[in-house]
Amino acid sequence: MSKRPTVVVTRRLPEPVEKELSREFDARLNRDDRPLGADGLQEALRTADALLCTVTDRLTAKVLSAEPRRARLLANFGVGFNHIDTNAAKARGLAVSNTPDVLTQATADIAMTLLLMASRRTGEGERHVRAGAWTGWRPTHMLGTQVSGKVLGLVGMGRIARAVAKRAHHGFGMRVIFHDPYPPTPAEAAELGAEPRASLEQVLEEADFVSLHCPATPETRHLMNRERLGRMRPSAFLINTARGDVVDEAALVEALSSGTIAGAGLDVYEKEPQVSPALLAMENVVLLPHLGSATQETRIAMGMRALENLRLFFSGAPLRDRVV
Ligand code: 8YV
Repeated sequence: MSKRPTVVVTRRLPEPVEKELSREFDARLNRDDRPLGADGLQEALRTADALLCTVTDRLTAKVLSAEPRRARLLANFGVGFNHIDTNAAKARGLAVSNTPDVLTQATADIAMTLLLMASRRTGEGERHVRAGAWTGWRPTHMLGTQVSGKVLGLVGMGRIARAVAKRAHHGFGMRVIFHDPYPPTPAEAAELGAEPRASLEQVLEEADFVSLHCPATPETRHLMNRERLGRMRPSAFLINTARGDVVDEAALVEALSSGTIAGAGLDVYEKEPQVSPALLAMENVVLLPHLGSATQETRIAMGMRALENLRLFFSGAPLRDRVV
């Protein structure tokens, strides 16, 4: 019998990661790539030493109450872990790790992609061409909004926001403002060309583009509600690569259809993979299927980082990315 720890890998991972996992662990891979669901997750908790899980696994207090539990670690594939009830995990002595750093650049690229797509109407333009509706160039056709010289407001100033600030300021000549209860040092902010604002409301009122970069917590749930969307400029765009929960999707639909704001670029949704039907019907919204970290390089790096956490944990060393 193998002495290697058993790890349930809840979704398919890039091949090099699955190979390495199988080499080092008794890895139970998910060849069909179907989410395990509550029962499957409980079965995994009862029969494996660790779970390598993803955003599609809802590890609620109820799921984590599986008894008798064998698992001691949830090695999350991803930086965000709002799908895991960390209080319940902590109370049960279950360690949780994540994979920060390695997805920063890819996610910042998607935030800029959304910003440019929304402002330059590129999704709409592509649909127009594909529908055979393009009748030819004309000076007033599908005019968008200039990005250079505009103000980008960052909500949260962590790793991903800083990478966005760098692109926006140094690459696109944008002015960058931000609000974060734990701000970077003035020197760090100056290097990114970013100016702090004392309140979230100030950022919302001043920005031409608002990009969300805070974690999803009970405190940030529906942070962008009707009232705060109302603080934004009618010409402004909202970009969300953080988590769907941070935005009240119904309020966003209302703000977009009433002209409270000009448009939005979304990579995440409140009830993924469901998207409000009203959003699907709107031309002034760009909708991506949670692609933030979706590059070959990044997904391999995320897998290897989760694997490193597993390796450290089972060798008795301190976890590099422990969140609980
Ligand atoms: C991941 C993400 O693809 O890391 C995150 O927080 O949102 C994505 O980059 C996803 O969470 C995988 O579990």
